[in-house]
Amino acid sequence: TGVVKVGLLGVGTVGGGVLKTIRSQQQKLSERLGRRVEVVKALVRDTDKQRAVQIDRDLVTTSFEDVLDAEVDIVVEVMGGVDPAYDYVRALMEKGCHIVTANKELLAKRGAELVELANRHHVQLAYEASVAGGIPILGVLRQFLRTNEITSVSGILNGTTNYILTQMEQHQLPYEVALKQAQELGYAEADPTSDVEGWDALYKSYILAQLVYGESLPLHAAERKGIDSLHLGQLALAQELGYRIKLLARASRTEGAIQLSVSPTLLPLDHPLAQVQDAYNAVQVSGNIVGDLLFMGKGAGELPTASAVVEDLAFLLTQRFTPHPIWQERQADKVRPQEQKWS
Ligand code: NAP
Ligand code: HSE
Repeated sequence: TGVVKVGLLGVGTVGGGVLKTIRSQQQKLSERLGRRVEVVKALVRDTDKQRAVQIDRDLVTTSFEDVLDAEVDIVVEVMGGVDPAYDYVRALMEKGCHIVTANKELLAKRGAELVELANRHHVQLAYEASVAGGIPILGVLRQFLRTNEITSVSGILNGTTNYILTQMEQHQLPYEVALKQAQELGYAEADPTSDVEGWDALYKSYILAQLVYGESLPLHAAERKGIDSLHLGQLALAQELGYRIKLLARASRTEGAIQLSVSPTLLPLDHPLAQVQDAYNAVQVSGNIVGDLLFMGKGAGELPTASAVVEDLAFLLTQRFTPHPIWQERQADKVRPQEQKWS
């Protein structure tokens, strides 16, 4: 047909951005895909809610069955959480639907199963938006940094906490006020504990480690500390001494051992990562051939995240089905246990 039928699971910050982006970029998308892209069904919890995006009442449903019955080609999962998102994605893949998701928690906790399901049902699973928002870091690592030995992938991977730290340090805003602003701006998770306790950054590090090394540490074995106990006084003292505190996430491998950590870290004021402000993220990749690379951009928020989702959507529709390459390769190696391998 002349239409790509898209289902949406969630019309919140990211889902709203996806709708807006499909509308604003429709001409480019149609030229690229040779078909119009249309959202034909959208799952929400509350159909009466006032939304930041205009959406036809007939498209919105509270019943997942309606999405399953809509004969969609591709589903964008932007509802968040593991339950019921995992069951929904699984049911859709079993029906032959491609999936694009921004859900790092789902990937960090059930990614291996999802990759296996996608391969079994010959559907694509794309998740660029799950790490560092608008920065296309997964694509770069997957396609253009495969021959380097990657010693570490580190950086600022959570927009909410970087926004809070920036507001506290530069405007002396109390922690609670800065957190409330981050929520209002659409940066924070539905439960912001995930942001401020470092879980969100850890999920992203886990995804990066799986992609780069084909394995990771179990989430519970990683070192994780958030910013929830930091005070204005500590930030001011750090600055007086010539430092800035940033929540750094790091995945590395030395002599075969993976390390995964998230923790507030003192950086000299002139360090490149100390310059990263507000909801920006920065990812530093160290490779044995290329040296150090730094990628920076908006790591959270409506349109930067929608950019990653819609680029994934268009990219996977231009590809024939390809099993997840790193997953496949590492399976062929038979070096590590299968359940640890996905990309
Ligand atoms: P959000 O604003 O809270 O939106 C969630 C949407 O999903 C809402 O429309 C909600 O319905 C719907 N929903 C949630 N649970 C549901 C359920 N059980 N049944 C039906 N509908 C349900 O969340 P968001 O900020 O857009 O984030 C969505 C996902 O993207 C999360 O996985 C998040 O980690 C990820 N992400 C977010 C950002 C960001 O900057 N916000 C960036 C990158 C990735 P109602 O509207 O009716 O409540
Ligand atoms: N809550 C996340 C953040 C959204 O603040 O970075 C982007 O993944």
